[in-house]
Amino acid sequence: MSTDAGAPPAIIEEVAAGVTYPLRGAVLRVGRPVEISGDDDPATFHLAARTEDGQIVGVVRFHPDPCPWRPEARAAWQLRGMATDPAVRGAGVGRALVAEGLTRVARRGGDLVWCDARAAASGFYARIGFAVVTEPYELAPIGPHLGMVIEVPRNDRDPVSRRRAATPGGVDGV
Ligand SMILES: CC(C)(COP(=O)(O)OP(=O)(O)OC[C@H]1O[C@@H](n2cnc3c(N)ncnc32)[C@H](O)[C@@H]1OP(=O)(O)O)[C@@H](O)C(=O)NCCC(=O)NCCS
Repeated sequence: MSTDAGAPPAIIEEVAAGVTYPLRGAVLRVGRPVEISGDDDPATFHLAARTEDGQIVGVVRFHPDPCPWRPEARAAWQLRGMATDPAVRGAGVGRALVAEGLTRVARRGGDLVWCDARAAASGFYARIGFAVVTEPYELAPIGPHLGMVIEVPRNDRDPVSRRRAATPGGVDGV
């Protein structure tokens, strides 16, 4: 996988739910059903990150769902099923997936994305622009989570990439 500065870390594509299941199952849902309620809803979309040789190294899904902590949001979407292959972590694949997802949510009219962030992953979400909006809470069988949200601009621009571009030493794009 290329890690050149400024080069996309992987190709991000919209895929059928089942394409995400092997990595989702291996990373996120070990010992539990890999399907998540709503996977096949027409409004739900799934993204996969592929390396040049076609290997899937990251997955995520987005679906419209009111935000429990921002009921005033006009069109909130939940992020779920976020996972990257341990072999590529830290290379920007997770950021690229969320950036693409936010762009697609914006195009669908969404104004907010939220997630139940595992405490261990909350630093990732914070790094790419999400804000913590709750105290820690338990979600069995995983453990502690934090409610996190990110505003989705109306103009289709990509807040995750812009945040990186604005970071000293950061590169433009994902
Ligand atoms: C969380 C996860 C998706 C991050 O994926 P990734 O491909 O490593 O993310 P990226 O490389 O795009 O990271 C983007 C930035 O966040 C940072 N980051 C990544 N994971 C982090 C973490 N757990 N804590 C703090 N910072 C983190 C990266 O260092 C990078 O920083 P940079 O801007 O200085 O380059 C991945 O670690 C994972 O799949 N974890 C297990 C499953 C999981 O917990 N999923 C989330 C469920 S809510």
